[in-house]
Amino acid sequence: MGLRQLTFHIFRYNPEIPNVNPAIKDYILQEEMGMTLFIALNKIREEQDSSLKYDFVCRAGICGSCGMLINGKPTLACRTLTKDLPADISLIPLPVFKLLGDLSVDTGTWFRDISLRTESWVHTEKDFDPHSPEDRMSNDTALKIYEAERCIECGCCISGCATANIKPDFIGAAGVNRVARFMVDPRDERDEQEYFDVVGSEDGIFGCVGLMACADTCPIGIPLQGQLAYVRRKMAIAGWRR
Ligand code: SF4
Ligand code: SF4
Ligand code: FES
Repeated sequence: MGLRQLTFHIFRYNPEIPNVNPAIKDYILQEEMGMTLFIALNKIREEQDSSLKYDFVCRAGICGSCGMLINGKPTLACRTLTKDLPADISLIPLPVFKLLGDLSVDTGTWFRDISLRTESWVHTEKDFDPHSPEDRMSNDTALKIYEAERCIECGCCISGCATANIKPDFIGAAGVNRVARFMVDPRDERDEQEYFDVVGSEDGIFGCVGLMACADTCPIGIPLQGQLAYVRRKMAIAGWRR
């Protein structure tokens, strides 16, 4: 396929100017070899519209700041090549998160809230001793923790989740993944009932309808299906015992 003329249909809205309604604005751009959406948006902003808002930091799929709906699918713009898209490209901000302007949303506040709600830290009665040797754990356990920790908090799984779109307090797959990370950690002394208090509700694991849009959209390939199943099984048993 040769280089094409691309038409971008981009959502524009500035919440600080509420008397101007949201709108889709079109921009024409000549495609270049190896063009990513990061490059394309920068060219549009530099050459056509300096008021366009969007977020990029790492440009390498690491920081999680560039999630947006690209032709309807939540994914990372910095890792998306225009050659993999049709010539008409629609860009919409991720739903669920607070809109800051155009394609820029506030995922940070949402993830901070989830960290507090799921108590995302190792709960232990042990006093901290900086001179003690590191706690040992099996390779298998360490790998499970590492796998969950790879989440870059991009918010794509949340935006693609039907439950999260209608229930603002639902913790979503990213929140459940966070809980799973601490459940497998042998240093965390919480028992199943304490976890049940955190995640055993309709805003937690029991609000998930299990259609796996989250697993289909995660750009990092976190095994969300397995994490959801693991937490659901544990919490079903904890609920039954309760
Ligand atoms: S499987 Fe659960 S968390 Fe994932 S998208 Fe569906 S409802 Fe949301
Ligand atoms: S689980 Fe995947 S899609 Fe969800 S926030 Fe983390 S990296 Fe993004
Ligand atoms: S800019 Fe960091 S993930 Fe896209």
